[in-house]
Amino acid sequence: MAKTIKKAVFPVAGLGTRFLPATKVNPKEILPIVDKPLIQYATEEAIHSGIKQLIFVIGKRKDTIKNYFSKSPELEKELLNKKKQSLLKTITKIVPKNINCVFVRQNKPAGLGHAINCAREIIQDEDFAVILADDLIKSKIPCLKQMINKYSETKRNIVAIEHIERKDTKKYGIVDPVNEKTLKNFYKIRSIIEKPTPSKAKSNLAVVGRYILSSKIFKFINKSRPTVGNEIQITDAIERLLNDGEGVYGYEFEGKRFDCGSKIGYLKATVEYALSHDEVSSEFRKYLKKYRLK
Ligand code: G1P
Repeated sequence: MAKTIKKAVFPVAGLGTRFLPATKVNPKEILPIVDKPLIQYATEEAIHSGIKQLIFVIGKRKDTIKNYFSKSPELEKELLNKKKQSLLKTITKIVPKNINCVFVRQNKPAGLGHAINCAREIIQDEDFAVILADDLIKSKIPCLKQMINKYSETKRNIVAIEHIERKDTKKYGIVDPVNEKTLKNFYKIRSIIEKPTPSKAKSNLAVVGRYILSSKIFKFINKSRPTVGNEIQITDAIERLLNDGEGVYGYEFEGKRFDCGSKIGYLKATVEYALSHDEVSSEFRKYLKKYRLK
């Protein structure tokens, strides 16, 4: 496996049905937490983790994402004329100069595995990262950076994991860890299964939307058939990778994860990020006191 990870795939072609009507026109990844779209939290996490190329897998109606990461000369000129330097900086730093963005199209929403496979020609034979923007992770060290650090030591496939309540196993990929932690927070995985019922789940360790994968995964995605939700699942391809003798590890990251694909997760993230936002935190805190919250 390669020395370090330079490419990250952002599958953003989903329909966002859980957020209709808000996602009728806008992709869910454009929904803001306070003032920044979810997808930008994800790209910043990648950039702060050393990623140099951002590969967006977009759907038919997702030109908004492409526009968001493209230059907007008119807006820049207007902000410059109005001497709004700070706002100008805010929009020009969305894509720092040394970062390259690529957009590939997924013609039909056929699942996460299928979406990742759309990036195959750009990844070629490198190991790469995948970030699902609706899993927003607040942490001191970016979650992907923590994983890349582990990758540098081990050169293995790594999925981010966290403990969930057993009743929720049907929402996630669930891993079956080999008994003891190999290292602190680092589990060797025996098998992985997409969205099992609580009675079928081998553990309550769920996959969170961060992956570091060997390019060998593409071979196994190609062999995968639609399963859960009639979609081609990345989880199934990882299971095949495991069966082929490749080491796959689960990394229990440090940080707090918000499932912003759900309304309640999105609301929790909004409150949490607003409470630490330079501009609004003190007024928002006062406002929340009305509800007798700390
Ligand atoms: C996807 C994956 C699942 C993983 C989850 C993390 O599911 O298929 O294995 O646990 O992301 O958010 P989705 O949320 O797209 O249904």
